[in-house]
This record gives sequence, C-alpha cells and structure tokens, in this order.
Amino acid sequence: MIKIAPSILSANFTRLGSELDSVASADLIHFDVMDGNFVPNLSFGLPVLKDVRAYTDAILDVHLMIDKPERYIEDFARAGADLLSVHLEADNPRGIRRALDAMGANGVKKAVALRPITDPRAILPYLEELDLVLVMTVEPGFGGQAFLESQLDTIRAVRTLIDTYHPGCDLEVDGGINEATARRAVEAGANVLVAGSAVFGKADRAAAIAALRG
Ligand code: DX5
Ligand code: ZN
Repeated sequence: MIKIAPSILSANFTRLGSELDSVASADLIHFDVMDGNFVPNLSFGLPVLKDVRAYTDAILDVHLMIDKPERYIEDFARAGADLLSVHLEADNPRGIRRALDAMGANGVKKAVALRPITDPRAILPYLEELDLVLVMTVEPGFGGQAFLESQLDTIRAVRTLIDTYHPGCDLEVDGGINEATARRAVEAGANVLVAGSAVFGKADRAAAIAALRG
C-alpha cells in the first residue's frame, strides 16, 4: 500500500484549515521544520504544529531540518507530532542516539532522514528501532525542486537494508515527487510519498492525491 503525505510547506498559510480539509484523503500530513542553519531557509515550528494538531486527527509526520534536533524532541512530541524525522547529518551519533531515545520516551514514532550525499548504510546503527526512513530526493530546504535521479540508487539500497534488517519499516521519499517520479520511486522501493507542489499546486487536491497513489 502506497501512502501519500502532502507537505503543507506548499499550502496557503492564510487558510491552513481549509488547506488541511482539502487533503483529507491523504494518509499523513508532512510538516517541514527549517531552522535557517541546517538548511538555508526558515519555515514554521511549534505554535503552528500545535494549532494543526488541534484542528485535525490526521497523522502528523514532522520532518526536522534543524541542527542538534535532540533539543526539541520533547517539545515537538508535546505539540502533537505522531512521527519525528531527524537528519543523520544534523548531529554526531551520540546526539542522534539521544534524539531517538527522546522519541521513545515521549511516545512518538521514530525516523531518520538522509540528505542526498549521505551513504544509505548510515541508517544501520538505528534501523531495527525505526518506524520510517526518509530519503531526500532533493537537497532539503525548498519546495518545488526537481527530483534527483541519482537518488533512485539510494532508495534501492535503503529498500534492501530494510527488507534485510527490519521489514516493517516504511521508506519515505521527499522532494520533486510528481506522477512520473512517484512511479519510479515506488519501483525503486519507496512506500510513502511526500508531495508539496504536486498536491497544493493543483486545484483538485483529491484528484492529485489519487493520481500519485495510482
Ligand atoms: C524540502 C521539504 C519537502 C518539500 C517538498 O526540503 O523537505 O517536504 O515540501 O516539496 P515538493 O514536493 O514541492 O518538492
Ligand atoms: Zn520534508
């Protein structure tokens, strides 16, 4: 089963409630947090997540593009995240370890994310405890970029590691996903598709979600 996660980074924030309503047929809502440091862009954070949590029962998939994310795990869990992704490049292994432990202690699902440059084997020390691995298919920081074809190899490598060591783990791809690249990412082994512009850039969101699913 393919799951679709619209990224509200591409939504219109002056009417976020109706934007969330428009993607009710999705499986998850993807929430991109950027700190202007780990990535060269700023987005939104805890107060927005809290309001989104109060508005919807949807599963909230929170992608932390921030340095030393262990500092904020408890806060994002309390604000209503269901799943948190931390970038393996955002701290040393001890910091990543503490971030994952904090997720466990706060009852949220655990994920790690990989920049395009990162070796897929970097997930191995954590894989058996993860609920999801997030493979970036663009350089993180901005919506609307073109899918990096070179990441198909990374998706295949992560799929092999998941099937070998932890078959229940989800494999999510994020960046440049549209109908054409969705198909290729799924063929390479992805089962969760993040899409910003390919959903919120379309007038009919339900049709856009159905097209990506198909
Ligand atoms: C980029 C973000 C993505 C972004 C995807 O750093 O992590 O989630 O919203 O946007 P599209 O689907 O437009 O590439
Ligand atoms: Zn994202």
